[in-house]
Amino acid sequence: MNSATPEPIIVWSQFFHPALMWVLFALTVYALYLGLKVRRVRSAEGEEKKALIQGKYNVKHFQIGSLVLALMVVGSIGGMAVTYLNNGKLFVGSHLLAGLGMTGIIAVSASLSPFMQKGADWARYTHIALNVVLVGLFGWQAWTGVEIVQRIISKL
Ligand code: HEM
Ligand code: HEM
Repeated sequence: MNSATPEPIIVWSQFFHPALMWVLFALTVYALYLGLKVRRVRSAEGEEKKALIQGKYNVKHFQIGSLVLALMVVGSIGGMAVTYLNNGKLFVGSHLLAGLGMTGIIAVSASLSPFMQKGADWARYTHIALNVVLVGLFGWQAWTGVEIVQRIISKL
């Protein structure tokens, strides 16, 4: 470690990314819930549809989705920055590669928004498929991430 930042700050910064990512996990599950509600609104009819529209699920999904997009990009870069500060290098392992993969996937997924809003089914189904992969990879990241946290704690 060869930085002007005091050592305790650098060491403790290692817990910021895991904590942020667990919050992001919860937000992602919430985005999934809202996305499924958007689908329900589309297929519902009559009174049920009127009631569901009041929920403004499409607006909420877009907002939470945008927040998830931003936090995932920043959180991923942050994880790499902190890893580098503490180790002087990155570890080209599954957590890094899956993390970069997720960051790419969510960018493509979000970029389909204007097409989904025009009603393009191909965009909708691509969005859903990408996000299923995203949520699956998130489970992997949570698992491997906790293992890394345990390794960091055992070295403190
Ligand atoms: C993170 C996980 C996400 C999940 C699990 C998810 C899931 C879904 C689902 C299931 C739908 C419904 C598709 C349909 O109507 O058939 C949907 C729609 C949509 N999503 Fe996502 N999404 C996610 C993230 C995002 C992000 C990051 C954005 C943009 C920043 C976004 C923007 C949209 C938009 C614009 C729609 C169309 C809503 C409408 O029809 O009015 N989503 N999403
Ligand atoms: C959900 C729980 C997660 C936990 C507990 C977790 C934990 C960690 C930990 C402890 C580190 C090492 C930090 C250090 O060495 O100082 C790390 C690095 C990293 N994390 Fe996560 N993480 C999680 C989710 C994610 C997600 C969702 C992404 C990306 C979308 C991500 C991307 C990264 C990247 C790119 C690195 C740098 C890896 C390297 O260069 O070796 N993490 N994570």
